[in-house]
Parts: sequence; structure tokens; C-alpha cells
Amino acid sequence: MPALVWSDAMSHAQPDMDTTHREFVDRLTAVEHALDHDPDQVAPSFGALLDHTKAHFSQEERWMGAIGLVPENGHADQHRHVLDVLHEVRGVIGQTGDAQILRRLISELASWFVAHAQMMDAVLAETMLACGFDTETGTAARPLTGKAGGA
Ligand SMILES: [Fe+2]
Ligand SMILES: [Fe+2]
Repeated sequence: MPALVWSDAMSHAQPDMDTTHREFVDRLTAVEHALDHDPDQVAPSFGALLDHTKAHFSQEERWMGAIGLVPENGHADQHRHVLDVLHEVRGVIGQTGDAQILRRLISELASWFVAHAQMMDAVLAETMLACGFDTETGTAARPLTGKAGGA
């Protein structure tokens, strides 16, 4: 049983956010699968998870900026902290050659993600909806700053 399985409880009124979150779940599961069955794929799958997570967080932070949510909120801090941990783990694996630390990381990331998606990402998704944010154009009809546009 994977550490993290997608469920409707994680979905929001933002299909683009949901797509990214489903991809996150898939990439996390791919690392887990590689640890169990395909050692050659551990490093590439972890690299893919790291790259995807950077893009995932950047996307949300761009959306926050465009609707006028201040960057100094706890949401972006959590993103930064998680990326720091991912980089740190990559460094430890590089030094020790032992990828088993990823088992603990996967379990912690799975728990963190559920809470983060249901609280911080949920607030972002609801605010995007309230602002009339269009992910195609990156603009909000009613940004919190009172200014049209954003990105
Ligand atoms: Fe997210
Ligand atoms: Fe987030």
C-alpha cells in the first residue's frame, strides 16, 4: 500500500492545482516503488519528485502573488522548508550512498502533504475562486490588492 493515495478529500475547486497534486502523489509513489523494486530508478525518481515539487510550489506562489496574497505568509514558508529538507536528503544520499533515508522522507512527506493540501492549499484555491482567478492568463478579475491583473 503506497504511503499516499489520492482521494477526493484532497481535491479543490481548482482543476490545475488538483492535476499538480495528483502528479505529486504519482511521483512520490514512483520513488517508493523504486525503493522496493527497482534500485536503478531510485535516484531518477527522486530527482523527478524534487523537480516537480519545485515547479509545484513555484506555481502556487505565482498564483498567490497574482491574487495579492502576501508572500510572507506561512504557506510559502512551508514550501521553502520542504524544499530545504528534500535538498538536505539528496545531499545525505550523495554522501552516504544509502537511499534508505527516503523511506522516512516519503512517510513524512505523505503526512505533511495531506495536512498542507487540506489547509493551506485549500485556502489558496478558495481565494483564487473568490478572486475570479484565471490560471490560463494568470490574472484575477477581483485581486485582493484591488488591482486588475497580477502576474
Ligand atoms: Fe500544493
Ligand atoms: Fe502549497
